[in-house]
Amino acid sequence: MNSKADDIIEILIAQEAIVQRVAELGGEITAAYRDCLPLMVGVLKGCTLFMSDLVKQIEIPLEMDFISLVSYGSMTRPSGAARITKDLDCVIEGRDVLLVEGIIDTGMTAGYLLRNLEARQPRSIRVCTLLDKPARRIVKIPVAFRGFEIPDRFVVGYGLDFRQLYRNLPYIGVLSDKITGLDRRRATGIPTATPH
Ligand code: IMP
Ligand code: MG
Repeated sequence: MNSKADDIIEILIAQEAIVQRVAELGGEITAAYRDCLPLMVGVLKGCTLFMSDLVKQIEIPLEMDFISLVSYGSMTRPSGAARITKDLDCVIEGRDVLLVEGIIDTGMTAGYLLRNLEARQPRSIRVCTLLDKPARRIVKIPVAFRGFEIPDRFVVGYGLDFRQLYRNLPYIGVLSDKITGLDRRRATGIPTATPH
């Protein structure tokens, strides 16, 4: 393959559709947080392209912070265990926190983060995700702001990766089984620590 985009078998969400939906989400968030100063907490690294476009569509003052973690388990059996590798810079006690994710799949990552951040006693905490893949949900997550619901397919682009690649694609695409299938067989049952 000459370019990474050759590995994409289908564009699930085109760039134009992302732009339009992100603008709508910005409007929803602007309305919801009009009377307070939200702290937007991005979950690295999947949130990066989404969050940078989203904040430009929010017409009230806000603050930004980021958190990074690794998840334990195997590709076929996530354990729900995780470890924060870069914590927030801010104290969130009494703050109105909006957790910003690129994708929610099993819900284990968001569930872990919600438990961890709730223990710090924010005034409120809500979840915003660009993509919601409910088919594999194990942990129920209350999603306040959702970009798109997608089917159970492995997608990359617009911040989302496969083995740290493809994040720079400007659309959400489905990766060929030639790429993911090989990796799934290799990874089956083998415990890993996966950065996000
Ligand atoms: P969880 O299963 O909801 O905990 O999602 C864990 C993480 O897996 C997400 O934050 C993403 O980093 C990654 N992930 C899940 N589904 C996909 C996908 O379709 N493409 C890329 N990354 C994914
Ligand atoms: Mg990833």
